[in-house]
Amino acid sequence: MSRKAYYTNKTNSMRVYNNVVETIGNTPMIRLNTFSKWIKATVYAKVEAFNPGHSAKDRIALFMIDEAVRSGKLKPGGTIIESTSGNTGFSLAMIAVTKGFRCILTVPNKISDEKLNLLGALGAEVIVCPTNVRPEDPKSYYSKAQQLSQEIPNSFYFNQYFNSANAEAHYQTTGPEIWEQTEGKITHYVCSVGTGGTCSGTAKYIKEQNKDVQVIGVDAYGSVLKKFHETGEFDNKEIYPYKLEAVGKNIIPDNVNFDVIDKFVKVEDKTSAFRARQLAKREGLFVGYSSGAALQGVFKIREELTKDDVVVVLFPDHGSRYLGKIFNNEWMEEAGFLYGYDNYKYMLKFRKFLRSI
Ligand SMILES: Cc1ncc(COP(=O)(O)O)c(C=O)c1O
Repeated sequence: MSRKAYYTNKTNSMRVYNNVVETIGNTPMIRLNTFSKWIKATVYAKVEAFNPGHSAKDRIALFMIDEAVRSGKLKPGGTIIESTSGNTGFSLAMIAVTKGFRCILTVPNKISDEKLNLLGALGAEVIVCPTNVRPEDPKSYYSKAQQLSQEIPNSFYFNQYFNSANAEAHYQTTGPEIWEQTEGKITHYVCSVGTGGTCSGTAKYIKEQNKDVQVIGVDAYGSVLKKFHETGEFDNKEIYPYKLEAVGKNIIPDNVNFDVIDKFVKVEDKTSAFRARQLAKREGLFVGYSSGAALQGVFKIREELTKDDVVVVLFPDHGSRYLGKIFNNEWMEEAGFLYGYDNYKYMLKFRKFLRSI
């Protein structure tokens, strides 16, 4: 239920919530104003950092828990188990606190320290697993979560990649919000794809209202999704390590509904990082790495856009989770993103450049 609905359900006129969970959803859409030199269309960002857990994953965590309780898979005092790149874990941990569940999270070792500390702050038990192993490897964060759910009594592995409540949360909330906020004028929807829930659920709702809205899934170099969409082939050669967090996959999650995604674009680690920094410096929008990726996705289709188009780009989370990464110049340098700016000749130019992005 949206925040607005909670307000109107009040039996008195106090503008208060009963708990933090009631503030999930109904996030604002904010116009991007400084990219018009390159992008002719009007672009609105759906800024999911306004959720109480600072990401779109609050929506799915709430839906998945409610569904598990409703279907009897999770009983009072039970244990929530999830494999997560961080945000879903944070949202599950937050809601677990309010509902009295234990929460165990398996995470890939490339997640930021900030994210790890956040999970601990909410009392979640965190198990860090290697990233560069195949999903079926017993050491992978998927396998570890599966194993724990078999060992711990009264526990439930949510598995956001294959749990239909993930996309359903966005079908029932994010999609209608975007449709209403744009008064149905949306022409393009650009969204990063990891588990696929955000893009697919939202897109399904929007396409049901107007099938002509173009849906663009944003994928990472090193992920199999784009090629799979185009050819139906799962190509192992597409898989290699990359820096971008939570975008792209080395599996095909059930929650990616390829039928409602018109096309995928791939974005680079480096450009995505610069785009996120630009959003902070140019728009005052302090959002995460995948938000930069999503904006880069809009840049990738800019030649198709006209001034009459209304683009909605979804920004999944908040920049504070990447202070030690893309917003840290040393990390950027170590990642090789500043290559070409690393000798004296380029230093002054680089300083000026960093101030501008
Ligand atoms: C920061 C961030 N961006 C993008 C995504 C991708 O969204 P989805 O999993 O709904 O495809 C996620 C999900 O893990 C995320 O946490």
